[in-house]
Amino acid sequence: MEIEVDLVPEHKRKEKPKDPVNLAFGSVYTDHMFIMEYSDEHWHSPRIQPYQSISLDPSALIFHYGQGIFEGMKGYRRGDKVFLFRPRDNFSRLNNSAKRMVMPQVDVDFCVEALKKLVRIDKDWIPQEPGTALYIRPTMIASEPKLGLRPSTEYLFYIILSPVGPYFKEGFNPVKIYVSDKYSRAAKGGVGFAKTLGNYAASLLAGEIAAKAGCSQVMWLDAVEHKYIEEAGTMNLFLLFEDELVTPPLTGTILPGITRDSVIQITRDWGMKVSERMVSIDEVIEGINNGRLKEIFGVGTAAVVAPVGSLLYKGNEYIINGNKTGDTAKRVLTELMGIQCGEIEDTRGWVIQVY
Ligand SMILES: Cc1ncc(COP(=O)(O)O)c(C=O)c1O
Repeated sequence: MEIEVDLVPEHKRKEKPKDPVNLAFGSVYTDHMFIMEYSDEHWHSPRIQPYQSISLDPSALIFHYGQGIFEGMKGYRRGDKVFLFRPRDNFSRLNNSAKRMVMPQVDVDFCVEALKKLVRIDKDWIPQEPGTALYIRPTMIASEPKLGLRPSTEYLFYIILSPVGPYFKEGFNPVKIYVSDKYSRAAKGGVGFAKTLGNYAASLLAGEIAAKAGCSQVMWLDAVEHKYIEEAGTMNLFLLFEDELVTPPLTGTILPGITRDSVIQITRDWGMKVSERMVSIDEVIEGINNGRLKEIFGVGTAAVVAPVGSLLYKGNEYIINGNKTGDTAKRVLTELMGIQCGEIEDTRGWVIQVY
């Protein structure tokens, strides 16, 4: 498919952020977006156009039954070079989410090409300062006007771009996490592994409770017993017990994070013992109390690596590693950021250079 391009005239382009390091996450969008439509069982009319509102019928299926999915990835600019980190994996995960939500597949290679074209057009929006990036949000929604519970026959797929600073106000300092022993995010057989809208809507109430308690995110426990650790609001979790780095397994209830997969590969290549196994909250508390648990950190596209300084669980605060950033979290962040920004050699074929 040929991608049509309709550019914003130079004099109508928006002003770029002056202080990207202090830019609130997801608050500013670039001049252009990619969009295409699905009907009659195929994608058509792919185009790059000025960033603009979309118009949908009030009965569009997305508004009533939540048939929508999205992705999140980042581009980095250092000097005159621009890199995308594992974009193929993001579009493949979008296709996995689409399958679960009975939505159409996209062509991964085509989407990567469309994204590269869009990023090239808006490349001057990509900040260069350490800790900054271009956040990329592909989205697919059910656009058919229809009241009645069934899969849509029409969809919109679009990609928008947002220059961003650090995700947490804490930067790379340890965050406080609220362990939710009441609300659940996802149950087995459900849609926890899909990046679908309802998962995030369902997480908001616990997120509010966490914020009121001074916490940055929620740590979810399994939905059946509220016993085993799953993931955090927008991050997968790693725990360092003595010399064993542990992350919860992909059992269908957590998002298979691309950062999670990258961290597993990197730390295994370093020779660390890395286990994908269930970890109970009791094991965590015991590990904090007897000193076996050295570090906890979250990993995800938005935050990259976020050290966890303390857990709030059933009204008690448990301090990890003296509320300091651990050496493993630091080393993982340095390696990952180095690869993502093209400063450390990418030996695994993760990075795509756009420029
Ligand atoms: C629920 C959830 N878990 C984990 C992650 C981390 O995934 P990734 O590393 O692919 O960004 C995200 C981020 O999008 C998320 O929303």
